[in-house]
Amino acid sequence: MVTSIGYLLVSTISIHFVLLLASAASAQCGYRCVCNETTVKCSEKQLRNIPEFKRVDFEPDTIDLSENKIEEVTEYSFVHPKFQKVKYLQINDNEIFNVHQSAFAVLTSLEFLDLSNNQLDEIPSEIIEKNTKLLELNLSNNLFGLNTPTIISASVLVLDLSSCKLKTFTEDNLKATPKLQALYMHINNFHHLDYHVFRKSNLKFLDISYNPWRCHCDTIKLFEHLIKFGITKLQRNVQCLHSNKLFEDIYGPSGPFTNNFCIKKGHFNNHQSDSQKVQLKDDVEPVANNQNFKPSTGNHQENVVNLVMHFEVILITGIASVIIVVSLITLAVVVRRTHPVQHTVYREVPTEATFL
Ligand SMILES: *[C@@H]1O[C@H](CO)[C@@H](O)[C@H](O)[C@H]1NC(C)=O
Ligand SMILES: *[C@@H]1O[C@H](CO)[C@@H](O)[C@H](O)[C@H]1NC(C)=O
Repeated sequence: MVTSIGYLLVSTISIHFVLLLASAASAQCGYRCVCNETTVKCSEKQLRNIPEFKRVDFEPDTIDLSENKIEEVTEYSFVHPKFQKVKYLQINDNEIFNVHQSAFAVLTSLEFLDLSNNQLDEIPSEIIEKNTKLLELNLSNNLFGLNTPTIISASVLVLDLSSCKLKTFTEDNLKATPKLQALYMHINNFHHLDYHVFRKSNLKFLDISYNPWRCHCDTIKLFEHLIKFGITKLQRNVQCLHSNKLFEDIYGPSGPFTNNFCIKKGHFNNHQSDSQKVQLKDDVEPVANNQNFKPSTGNHQENVVNLVMHFEVILITGIASVIIVVSLITLAVVVRRTHPVQHTVYREVPTEATFL
């Protein structure tokens, strides 16, 4: 009896001890956040707001707020005496639609800022202007559309603007980031870009694949220049989009394809056999999350689907009208049968009147 009580006591104490150790290793350090010596981790906690970090009493180099439901970043979100050494800030995979232009100004050591996978349809140009050590800004998967961001930064080397529904990009969008070396703009809605845009930049890497490029000589010229000046190294085929919604390969890692729509002297081979005509490659699968990018082979199928749908609509409309007509006739017959008195009355009245 005594030994079993002793046993219970010892095991209870040891469980408490283990729990104590565990909580020390990953201390609670703010509303739903967990910390160690370097990191404040608040990811996947269903947060709607950025917490106040009141209990953070050490100087973290990383703040991870990814995969929450945060909607706004205000100018006070990161005002904290211990945030002078933060290098990595992850606020990706949230629902942010609004960022104050000074939101990150207090994070003077910031090097990497990830705002990807949010709902931003615009972003202030000054957003990282004060972060003079910032190297990388990720804005991928936002909703900028026609509001192409113009970022002011004397330090940033890498900028990711992929999957942002962008339509335009000019020299002005680029001139405030003089040190930029890598620009990611794949999966957007570019039809055309002037190669002059990149002429004065220090870009060493540019990804503009998976855009619905116009099938036009200008597009070929753009890629010729970018490749010639070593800006674009193609890792996959680039396609242009014809007015009949067919995609055609125009450039690939192994060089240019033969393009019927742009045949110039000395440009491409003038003598083309039938077999060299527009060939649509099956092996180039566009990235799935771009709604505007349709696989080059899916078009025939789409037409068939459209036709079938069209036929179905006609059929359903036809059946519906037949049903309506039949029910109207039935209704008329029923009304006639169930209210015969009215007719009699109607006929009798004048008869009576003639008797009078
Ligand atoms: C602190 O936590 C982060 C994220 O969980 C982890 O990557 C890092 O290695 C940890 N650092 C230390 C010193 O335990
Ligand atoms: C930016 O974020 C996206 C999505 O989170 C990621 O796939 C991509 O690799 C990041 N870009 C860079 C340059 O690291």
